[in-house]
Parts: sequence; structure tokens; C-alpha cells
Amino acid sequence: MIDWGGVLCAVRCDDETGAAFVIAVHSFALGPAAGGTRAMEYPSLDAAVLDATRLAEAMSLKLAVAGLPLGGGKSVIALPVPRARLDPARWRRILEIHAENVAAFGGNYVTGPDVGTTAADMDVVHECGAYATGRTPATGGSGSSAPATARGVHIAVKRAAAEAGFDELDGLTVLIQGLGAVGAEVARRVAADGARLIVADIDERAVTAAVRLGATAVPVEDVLQVESDLFVPCAIGGIIDADVAGTIRTKAIAGAANNVLTGGAAAEVLQGRGIVLAPDFIANVGGAVDLAGREFLGWGDVEVEQKLAEIGDTLDRVFADAATEHISTDEAARCLARRRLEALRTSR
Ligand code: NAI
Ligand code: PHE
Repeated sequence: MIDWGGVLCAVRCDDETGAAFVIAVHSFALGPAAGGTRAMEYPSLDAAVLDATRLAEAMSLKLAVAGLPLGGGKSVIALPVPRARLDPARWRRILEIHAENVAAFGGNYVTGPDVGTTAADMDVVHECGAYATGRTPATGGSGSSAPATARGVHIAVKRAAAEAGFDELDGLTVLIQGLGAVGAEVARRVAADGARLIVADIDERAVTAAVRLGATAVPVEDVLQVESDLFVPCAIGGIIDADVAGTIRTKAIAGAANNVLTGGAAAEVLQGRGIVLAPDFIANVGGAVDLAGREFLGWGDVEVEQKLAEIGDTLDRVFADAATEHISTDEAARCLARRRLEALRTSR
């Protein structure tokens, strides 16, 4: 059984395309549920369901902490082969089926891009009758959420560094895992701050681009053994369990990857070792702020940047609460999310 606490999880398996579709809604408490569409291979349907439910919960926490009037949801499309090996017609059909599933929620779940999907994919989903945020500007969408996410992660990296006792990033060794849409932009920003970059990605082209920025590349399988001042995970979740937390050689962790910890035990081990953790659902809220702010709340650049700046204050609050209450920063952030959710719910 999954220990989850969410509202519902819908699953559809399609023989024609070989894909399995999961939509998890964690909460409707603050409004329609929102969360992106992740398309990738999974070892089993159970693994896809588990990922969707945990990611939907992370969206609830993220949106509540930021005070955005939306619940948490997530879509997972478990692909039969890697996305790059799907022919365009089969991918199009997968998106059509996904749109049908999202539309069945009647506007109570809105999707958007996530790992394995793009703004152009969201155009297709929208065109097929389901509301999708993060479409291309040509179709009236607000485009990729990655730049805003990266700006927010950059703020979080600097705050986590400060909490770990570093006044600035200049001269620090920053290890970045994943140089995709978010990680590459974070790399550019921390390199501009004077940090020494160590990077890893399964995509050689992404690594080559970072090496041109002056980064040192390490093999992907070595990342969790490499020593750094700051570790910035921007690839996949579930990489830090209690064992890794006990051995990782860094002073602070702040990144974009959703659900970077496998659970609360890992957070406690990090806390016990004095490693600062900026909870991911606070650090990576920039994309949600950009999409939800612009598309649902009518925000422009000024409001989006103001909200991103709050990431630093929220982290300071969480670091202080964790110290006062002798709990991990992950637990302190979850408590803050629950309090803000309750306050927003009662004020509605
Ligand atoms: P992306 O798909 O553009 O980039 C992910 C990168 O990680 C790719 O370059 C990929 O090759 C690399 N990668 C995959 N497995 C790896 C491994 N084992 N080791 C090293 N590199 C690996 O995704 P994006 O948009 O940059 O997102 C990165 C993370 O941030 C994801 O976990 C996503 O859920 C999260 N996130 C993204 C947001 C956004 O607005 N794009 C918002 C909030 C969270
Ligand atoms: N997938 C991104 C995230 O995890 C951006 C996103 C936010 C997409 C909200 C849809 C809705 O935050």
C-alpha cells in the first residue's frame, strides 16, 4: 500500500501505443489541482504510480508554501521506449490520449510541462481539448517555466550557502547534477558568481556546453561521491536516501529536482551531519510561480520576480524553525506548508 494521503489517482493503460497514463491529484483544497506531465520509462506500473503520487504531493506543498491558490497534481506517462526513440505519430497519439484523460477532470486538474515534455507538447494537449499551462507564446502560453525555476534555484543556492557559512559563491565548488533546461541556466548563473563548477549529465552535449563555461565534468555514477561545497541536484528525484545522506561530502544542498530525498530519514541524517538542505519544493517553485502567476493570476514580470525573491525569506524561516524546534529543514518546510494551507483554506 502507498502511504500517501492524496485525493485520487487515475490509471489508464493503452495497448495501441504501449504507454501507461497516471494522473494523481493530491489536493483540491486550495483550488483546481496543477502539476506537470512527466514522460519517461519506468521499471513497472507501480513505480509510475508511486512517482506520480509523490510528485503530486510535492506540488501541493510547493503551491501551499508559495500561497498560490491551487492544489497539487501530477501526470506521469510511462513510455514503452525512451522518448527519443518514439516516432512522431506515436508520440502525438500518446499526447492525444493524455489530453483526453486530463479533460476528463473537467478543469479540476491542469497540466503543464515537466521532465520529458515541452511547451510544444503542451500546445498539442491544449489543442486536443485539455487546459495546459506552459504552452508556447505563439499559442498564447507563457512558454518554458525553466528560466524562472533556475532564477529561483539560484536564490536558494545562495541562501543555503549563507546558512552553511559562505558569504558568497565566489571561489566555492558547486556540483551540479543535470544540465537540462534548469541545470544549464543555474550553471551559467553560479559560474557568473565566480563558483568553480563540477558537472555531470548523461547527455554529452550538455556536459560539453558546461565545460565551455569552465566546468569540470565527472561521470554520472560518481556524482554522489564527489566532494563539493554545494550540491545542486537538477536531474532526477530519489537520489538521496539515508545511506547517501550519511556519506555525501558537501556543506549544503539546494536544487531543482523534485523529491530529491527518498524520505524524512534522509533529511534527519543530513541535519545530524550539519549539512544544510534547502527543501526542493521551496527552491524549485519558480516554474509554478511563473506559470500559475501569469496564466491564472494575471501577473507580469514584477509580480513574478517579487514572488521568486520570497524563496530566500521562506528558506530563512525554515532554517530558523528547524533550529528552534530541533527538526530537519524538510520537516520544518512541511509544517510551514501545512500551516499556510490551513490559513489559505480558512480565508477562502
Ligand atoms: P530536463 O529534462 O530539461 O533536464 C534534466 C537533465 O538531467 C537532462 O539534461 C538529463 O540528461 C539529465 N539527467 C537525467 N538523468 C541523469 C542522471 N542520472 N545523472 C545526471 N544527469 C541526468 O529537466 P528540467 O526542466 O531541467 O528539470 C530538472 C529537474 O527539476 C527535474 O527533476 C524537474 O522535475 C525539476 N523541476 C523543473 C521545473 C521546470 O520548470 N522545468 C520546475 C520544478 C522542478
Ligand atoms: N513541472 C514544474 C514543477 O514541477 C512546473 C509546473 C508547475 C508545471 C505547475 C505545471 C504546473 O513545478
